[in-house]
Amino acid sequence: MLKNKDLLGLKNLDKEEILQILDTAVEMKKLLVQNVKRVPHLQGRSVVTLFYENSTRTRMSFELAAKFMSATASSISVAQSSVAKGETLIDTGKTLDALKTDVIIIRHSMGGAPHLLAKNVKASVINGGDGVNEHPTQALLDMFTMRERISDLKGLEVAIVGDIKHSRVAKSNIWGLNKMGAKVKIFAPGTLLPQEIEKMGCTICNSREEAVVNSDVIMGLRIQLERQQCGLFPSLREYSALYGLNDEVLKAAKKDAIIMHPGPVNRGVELTSSLIDGDRSLIEEQVLNGVAIRMAILFLLTRGERK
Ligand code: CP
Repeated sequence: MLKNKDLLGLKNLDKEEILQILDTAVEMKKLLVQNVKRVPHLQGRSVVTLFYENSTRTRMSFELAAKFMSATASSISVAQSSVAKGETLIDTGKTLDALKTDVIIIRHSMGGAPHLLAKNVKASVINGGDGVNEHPTQALLDMFTMRERISDLKGLEVAIVGDIKHSRVAKSNIWGLNKMGAKVKIFAPGTLLPQEIEKMGCTICNSREEAVVNSDVIMGLRIQLERQQCGLFPSLREYSALYGLNDEVLKAAKKDAIIMHPGPVNRGVELTSSLIDGDRSLIEEQVLNGVAIRMAILFLLTRGERK
């Protein structure tokens, strides 16, 4: 069992809990790839996705995971809900509690929104991405993919290249990978590096080549134009030329280094199509593994008595 009723971030999850989720996801993936329509693990449970921001992967994979495990899965479309009439996040949460919801998965543009909701509801709350703070289930599926494809995470070298400042995926990966004993290197334009990022325990590189040399995993990140208040680099073309990952940069990498990206990808900006669609890319495998990880989290959070 996880120690808390909620899963809000990897900053406050310990190594044993991360391992428990990763190990449980191994068993869940075995079920997922079998030729069965559903398993009974979440029978009688109710799961709701409450997304205040757009999503394809996270929302779909939580809904598929819940349905595959026989839960009732509902989705609140914020634009069509009473949120549009001014209902507060806490009141929306209390309404879901009254409807006997067991798990709420929330995505919100405000960092800390899932924490606020968790404090005010009986249901388990899972952070599906909050502002630029954390995206814990994405980092867990990323770690699952590295572990499945390469090895134990201890000693692994992981390069993260792109918009670190606005990336909740990068933050959760840095917290999680450090706890698991991996070495994280980052590279980004100075304007896309958050202040005091080194204090999170990663190494800042001065070039793309320095980041990819000796790395077992090379993770590209999406340029998040929607979160930038003013231009933080001259143009997408220049970003791609100076900071993007392509075949030329990958010549400096190990032959068996894998390419990852949380998606959605800006093709030709942070990664070229030749890398996205190439043999080293695990981007589609990450999506499948996202269902296994989310099955594991839903299972571990609902194993006890109904709240
Ligand atoms: N990686 C990720 O969170 O993708 P979505 O925005 O599609 O959920």
